[in-house]
Amino acid sequence: MAASETVLRVPLGSLSQSCCLASFFVNSTPNLSFKPVSINRKGVRCTSSHEFSTVSNSAVRGNSFHSSNCSLKGKKFVCKCQKHDVEESIRSTVLPSDGLKSDLDEMPLPVNGSLSSNGNAQSVGTKSIEDEAWDLLRQSVVFYCGSPIGTIAANDPSSTSVLNYDQVFIRDFIPSGIAFLLKGEYDIVRNFILYTLQLQSWEKTMDCHSPGQGLMPCSFKVKTVPLDGDDSMTEEVLDPDFGEAAIGRVAPVDSGLWWIILLRAYGKCTGDLSVQERVDVQTGIKMILKLCLADGFDMFPTLLVTDGSCMIDRRMGIHGHPLEIQALFYSALVCAREMLTPEDGSDDLIRALNNRLVALNFHIREYYWLDLKKINEIYRYQTEEYSYDAVNKFNIYPDQIPSWLVDFMPNRGGYLIGNLQPAHMDFRFFTLGNLWSIVSSLATNDQSHAILDLIEAKWAELVADMPLKICYPAMEGEEWRIITGSDPKNTPWSYHNGGAWPTLLWQLTVASIKMGRPEIAEKAVELAERRISLDKWPEYYDTKRARFIGKQARLYQTWSIAGYLVAKLLLANPAAAKFLTSEEDSDLRNAFSCMISANPRRTRGPKKAQQPFIV
Ligand code: GLC
Repeated sequence: MAASETVLRVPLGSLSQSCCLASFFVNSTPNLSFKPVSINRKGVRCTSSHEFSTVSNSAVRGNSFHSSNCSLKGKKFVCKCQKHDVEESIRSTVLPSDGLKSDLDEMPLPVNGSLSSNGNAQSVGTKSIEDEAWDLLRQSVVFYCGSPIGTIAANDPSSTSVLNYDQVFIRDFIPSGIAFLLKGEYDIVRNFILYTLQLQSWEKTMDCHSPGQGLMPCSFKVKTVPLDGDDSMTEEVLDPDFGEAAIGRVAPVDSGLWWIILLRAYGKCTGDLSVQERVDVQTGIKMILKLCLADGFDMFPTLLVTDGSCMIDRRMGIHGHPLEIQALFYSALVCAREMLTPEDGSDDLIRALNNRLVALNFHIREYYWLDLKKINEIYRYQTEEYSYDAVNKFNIYPDQIPSWLVDFMPNRGGYLIGNLQPAHMDFRFFTLGNLWSIVSSLATNDQSHAILDLIEAKWAELVADMPLKICYPAMEGEEWRIITGSDPKNTPWSYHNGGAWPTLLWQLTVASIKMGRPEIAEKAVELAERRISLDKWPEYYDTKRARFIGKQARLYQTWSIAGYLVAKLLLANPAAAKFLTSEEDSDLRNAFSCMISANPRRTRGPKKAQQPFIV
């Protein structure tokens, strides 16, 4: 990587090296080294099966990896397990070890992600919604060689076409994983982290092209296949999808970022740092960072991605620098910085990480922020400013301000816009990006409160009958036709185009607890409880007020269930939100305030000498 050549160009003005950035870099992170892992061009980690079996046995205490029976076989990660071995291992190791306990005892042997024979999801009887949700979540657990390793995306018995909803999606598993962590059931999360790590360096190609080595899959499936040459035995195979089979061939950029966030939450919650300290896990973190921090053609510190590279995994006009990716990127950088263990020779990586944190933080806070005052500023922008100290740096034409925005923006409150590119601001409100900017402290304290103020002020639009709109407003008419390519699934106020997604409850809960305003999440949870179980835990809701179950929504969608559970668990124990939140440290705060005082937007006047700041 070219991190050693990184030059952070900031208009220095009053900014001096000693004032901020230098001290930030000196103090912030221990020396670390970055060593390329032994990977060949095809993406197979040559030492992987050996490394996996030796490291996992010693470092992963008490779990039931059948490591000696697992190996790389061509493209697949294969574990050979006789049917009776699997059943035995489920009884003897999975159940008692850490808590997939009492409820599971009464269940039939797990059939991956399928409702058990008596698992009528509707039969709530006198059970609380929470109890029902736990039953459903446990029924969605996927096993690999007897160990729980994830949860299936949806468990809808009424659905005629499964597509890939029978797979474990990385992003979908995050609320499941957190629910299990908060319940003290750690094995499934540890297994998920370690097995998905094995998939990271998979051979993956699309029409002969291989994406970067650090890419984490979007989803994976456990397949049981007959063992070559022995009909009495089967073997289990982990079959990842990096987007090469996904609709639209979208790149799962968010997977690796979520993986890092979950890894940090695992360590914080369990106090067991041995997983994040493992050599293979450290290497996995570095591979993700390397991919994200690689130099490219981009002018901005934000991560440049194609459309549909996150939760919104279809064409929705979110290519470029979408907020959701930036918030997760920032969060992953902060978490990685906390977890990387000191090692000689990784100065370049750490320097690149720190540079990026400062620049990204400044860029988003300054240029993505929108409130009434900023709209008025944009409304009066001069354009075509060719200069170093342009106020309208991105050449935004005031006519871009959409008519809905003036009504939508409350007097008190604001939010981070969806995307920023040359001559283009996407003014839509994207919920996940805004909430995760609060959680990760990408937004300032004032901005974080203002985002929550806006959610409260615009409750009827953003929460309405079912939390929580994925984005606002929907694209309609010609705009929908051009931007989505006439996508019949993303019609106005449906699915990704202004639909409501109950899973977002958990992110709302973390954000509102962090800001000391849990009552916002409580209100949203109460609202969800009125319908969500009766409606069979849909994936999403449609219409402006979220009154209908989504047109093509799956029922018993796992992350709707897990999102609700995480919200309930955190509201009952708000202190646990700190496993997920990050507080801004004083080094970053200083660096930001120095950069802000040097920003020409606030100091338009005679041109100052421009100096690159070399770190
Ligand atoms: C849809 C969602 C995506 C999710 C997947 C599985 O494609 O857009 O975010 O991961 O379903 O639930």
